[in-house]
Amino acid sequence: MRIGIVGSGLMGGKLGTIFARAGHEVVFSYARSEQKLKALAQEAKGKAAKGKARHGTPREAAQDADAVLLAVHWLRFDDVLEQAGDLSGKVVITCSLPMNEENTELVIGRTSSAAEELSKKIPKARVVSAFNTVPSEVLFDVYEARRKAGRPSLVYCGDDRSSKELATGLIRDVGFDPVDAGPLRIARYTEPFALLVGQLAYEGKGGPELAYRFERFGK
Ligand SMILES: NC(=O)c1ccc[n+]([C@@H]2O[C@H](COP(=O)([O-])OP(=O)(O)OC[C@H]3O[C@@H](n4cnc5c(N)ncnc54)[C@H](OP(=O)(O)O)[C@@H]3O)[C@@H](O)[C@H]2O)c1
Repeated sequence: MRIGIVGSGLMGGKLGTIFARAGHEVVFSYARSEQKLKALAQEAKGKAAKGKARHGTPREAAQDADAVLLAVHWLRFDDVLEQAGDLSGKVVITCSLPMNEENTELVIGRTSSAAEELSKKIPKARVVSAFNTVPSEVLFDVYEARRKAGRPSLVYCGDDRSSKELATGLIRDVGFDPVDAGPLRIARYTEPFALLVGQLAYEGKGGPELAYRFERFGK
């Protein structure tokens, strides 16, 4: 699959690297230095240069992509969307949380979410909210542990069935057990939940390499 990474920071850089290692073709874009994007692509190819990764502009990343991962601060949505060009019909996976500029608190919730606000800006794209409920620090560990039993859960939501199926595949590729939380408006619940996970990861005693697992009991 071709995946355009728009926002190549902690989340986009790591997820893009994992997608490339899992066999996808990845284009890294949107960082403040081209050198960084270049290095990320090089690193994502791995030692054997097996992975397919390159860098480009957001427009190049989105152009032929089967899925676009939008991994930017939500206050950068307008800038990034302008640079990415027409995303009509595209599967856009967002991990963004609606934080203030200082990243200290959520600024919307209950009646909307970052994912829904994004979807309003690109109504012809098919937005899925995923990967936002885990810290970037745990991603490589989850990938390394993907063959072990008891995979961690990862909640995701969206309104379009086929784009959710595509996202499910990527979530599995990273090493998570996907949990369909329902339509995109459920991001109003998953986004604050991400802050709980963040609290435990960054303020808890065990360190930030934290994921979670839901278990059902009874019938
Ligand atoms: N980090 C986490 O653990 C985590 C977990 C869950 C959800 N999230 C959410 O995921 C999203 C991304 O988070 P992140 O931690 O990956 O953020 P980040 O590390 O700051 O990455 C953001 C990316 O956007 C780029 N960028 C910012 N301003 C730019 C500009 N003016 N021009 C060009 N590029 C620009 C950054 O460039 P540089 O590389 O040059 O800085 C970086 O590549 C956020 O909405 C966050 O709420 C993060």
